[in-house]
Amino acid sequence: MTKQILVSGIKPTGDIHIGNYLGTLKNWVELQDKYNCFFFIADWHALTIKHDPKNYQDLILKTAMTLLSVGIDPKKSTLFVQSHLSEHAELCWLFNTLTPVAELERMTQYKDEAKQHKDNINAGLLDYPVLMSADILLYKPEVVPVGHDQLQHLELANVIAKKFNNRFGQYFEEVKPNLSKSPRLMSLTEPDKKMSKSLGPNNYIALDDSPEMIRKKVMSAVTDVGPTGSSEMSSGVRNLFILLEEFADKQTVVKYKNSYLDKTLKYSELKAELAEAIIKILSPIQERKAKLMKDQKKVQKILLDGAKQARTIAQKNLLEIKKLMGLV
Ligand code: TYM
Repeated sequence: MTKQILVSGIKPTGDIHIGNYLGTLKNWVELQDKYNCFFFIADWHALTIKHDPKNYQDLILKTAMTLLSVGIDPKKSTLFVQSHLSEHAELCWLFNTLTPVAELERMTQYKDEAKQHKDNINAGLLDYPVLMSADILLYKPEVVPVGHDQLQHLELANVIAKKFNNRFGQYFEEVKPNLSKSPRLMSLTEPDKKMSKSLGPNNYIALDDSPEMIRKKVMSAVTDVGPTGSSEMSSGVRNLFILLEEFADKQTVVKYKNSYLDKTLKYSELKAELAEAIIKILSPIQERKAKLMKDQKKVQKILLDGAKQARTIAQKNLLEIKKLMGLV
């Protein structure tokens, strides 16, 4: 039986953090056996924020290395760079003609980014979800694994798909998001906000962080002032327990949950054990990445082969779409 298709992407914007990892990358790795997976580095998307052209190729390559080191297997999945396939941009244009501007103006991510980058509210920032819809629908996937912050964009992809079907005939099926167990990991320093690069390096743990850095960041994570008698767990503590559940063994989680409940929990002890648990999971990933760093040619070849593979489907589907639109 042919496997159903899965598509997802990540921007090459520098550090990849444990929010990305727990929010979606870990899921990508697990879903590789079940689906025919297309994973890509969204280098066009990342241009909507100012980037440094001098180190951009390096950043793209390092992002690919991180994906390989967490467990994306090029023998099972297709891994490629978005801009290697002009089909994504072509479909984005076609979808632009179907997308009401008002739909784009109400996107939360657009509003947040526009607020944060007042000096650079470029058309690409507004059009970002249309390109994302093209990235997805080009492969006619069944599922798209993402973190919680991308759900609104996925909804828009389905709105565009419906508009296309209504005007040009049934072609796209509805795509379904696939959320992980921790689809919205919070910041270590501002636990009411999601973990994000834009809040600065202390709010996240990068997959590349050294053991010393990890210890330092976890130890200074914001909690509450101690067991207060309130039955509500603070967002900082809740986030630490989520991390503990993701990185530590069951016994450790139960131990700290019990001490939280009987109000004997010492945050310094929980944090110290959590930091070691994170280091234990990230170390082998870092070792694999260090090996790949020595073999950049191999990684470049994986990306070129991936683009070739993706192109076969992208070209076939785009031609069908263009036929339906009367372009060929
Ligand atoms: P990006 O590069 O910002 O993030 C990559 C993935 O990580 C998830 N994520 C999180 N999950 C949980 N907690 C967090 N704090 C957290 N921060 C980030 C994101 O939800 C995402 O799944 N627009 C996408 C890239 C993209 C894409 C696509 C994704 C472009 N085209 C097509 C899917 C399909 C983005 O900016 O991801």
